Amino acid sequence: LDPKDAAVVEPCRQSLPSQTQSIDSIPGPTNWPLFGSLIELLRKGGLQRQHDALIDYHKKFGKIFRMKLGSFESVHIGAPCLLETLYRKESVYPQRLEIKPWKAYRDFRDEAYGLLILEGKDWQRVRSAFQQKLMKPTEVAKLDGKINQVLADFVSRIGQVTDNGRFEDLYFELNKWSMETICLVLYDKRFGLLHDNVNEEAMTFIMSIKTMMSTFGMMMVTPVKLHKKLNTKTWQAHTMAWDRIFSTAKVYIDKKIKRHTEATGPSDDFLCDIYRHSHLSKKELYAAITELQIGGVETTANSLLWAIFNLSRNPCAQGKLLQEIREVLPANQTPSAEHLQRMPYLKACLKESMRLSPSVPFTSRTLDKDTVLGDYSIPKGTVLMINSHALGANEEYFEHSSLFKPERWLRESRPINPFAHVPFGIGKRMCIGRRLAELQLQLALCWVVRDYEVVATDCEPVDAIHSGLLVPNRELPVTFIRR
Ligand code: HEM
Repeated sequence: LDPKDAAVVEPCRQSLPSQTQSIDSIPGPTNWPLFGSLIELLRKGGLQRQHDALIDYHKKFGKIFRMKLGSFESVHIGAPCLLETLYRKESVYPQRLEIKPWKAYRDFRDEAYGLLILEGKDWQRVRSAFQQKLMKPTEVAKLDGKINQVLADFVSRIGQVTDNGRFEDLYFELNKWSMETICLVLYDKRFGLLHDNVNEEAMTFIMSIKTMMSTFGMMMVTPVKLHKKLNTKTWQAHTMAWDRIFSTAKVYIDKKIKRHTEATGPSDDFLCDIYRHSHLSKKELYAAITELQIGGVETTANSLLWAIFNLSRNPCAQGKLLQEIREVLPANQTPSAEHLQRMPYLKACLKESMRLSPSVPFTSRTLDKDTVLGDYSIPKGTVLMINSHALGANEEYFEHSSLFKPERWLRESRPINPFAHVPFGIGKRMCIGRRLAELQLQLALCWVVRDYEVVATDCEPVDAIHSGLLVPNRELPVTFIRR
């Protein structure tokens, strides 16, 4: 929470503990024996459309509702006021829903856990090792040179490989861009993903991440222990993918640490600084770095994809953005973190795109103590879903919510409750890559919009479907025209 926003937060109405109702009184969709609301959800378009169904449920049941899918029960919160309460009552070590398949792999191979799956004191120890470098704006600003290096290649690639300004698979290109950037930041190595002939090692790495991501969903809904015991195809593919990811990451982390240990004089290097000052073991560093990479690649690519799409559909906003970029940035000069300080409209465009089309529609918390939220007393162990997608689509918090209006984020507009916009989550477990992602995305928009007009090639709807992240249901109808 930004302190300057504190005045905007409406006071939260809380029932006294003696007046609260039990979790059983929370409304929700029909809860059939065995299936819960699964059949109803399937009728509403299935898991791929669950984000839309959840908006409908919030409309029907209000700020809080309870839902069971098979045996998995969760309480959904979609109101800034309840989020604020949760934030203020947050425990020392907040927890998200467990990712059991990832833990199973680490236990199987005796590898450590990273930030996405760690809990308790160990989570806090690893988090604080990275917190300063990744969450302090002045530290992250130092990475603008590396980010720009990759962006220069990306922007010239738009001119070279597109067919009349259209990529065959824009999302894949953006994934390569964000992967190349994060690898440069973490390992100080260029993988060459933006070249025509991507080397085999880089391709194996990227494909292994894809396989790992596509195989863990199944083991989230069926017992991972059984997969392991029966050595199912899913378990084998998942394990093999992690083996490759870890072995590649280890090689680059080791090389980098060796290089810097041999060098004399102080280092100003992201990974080595952390290794030197944090007392993390190498094993912990391998896991933490690997998970930073996994947390950062597709999320960032996906956010840029939607931002490009939203600008293509809103040429007036794009025109204003271009004007701001031209006013702040002298011709032929590379944009820097410092330039971005003077680009409020650019930041507003990005915020608006992440509101309208968030990459991560919800995150979760597993309560580690009984907690009163609004009118209800919710027991320890309950899984809460924090629905940022539903918040962004709610007319109560965003007037004309289906429109792309960056102006709503500018200072002179009506203030927005900060708990109504949480694309990076909230509190102590908020996304640790947030500042890096924002810098990457802001610089990317600067480069792309300055050099290219992003034009919509049709005006048919593009729907978002849920596939871990919210992705477009078809190739984006956009083309890049050189200015
Ligand atoms: C956690 C979104 C980029 C690494 C999260 C969470 C969200 C999120 C919603 C859960 C937060 C919560 O539970 O409160 C995003 C989006 C991104 C992005 C939308 C891009 C636009 C990145 C990047 C990195 C990263 C670039 C790595 C440098 C992580 C990690 C966590 C996390 C490690 C777990 C943090 C913890 O539990 O302590 N992210 N993320 N993310 N993200 Fe990101």
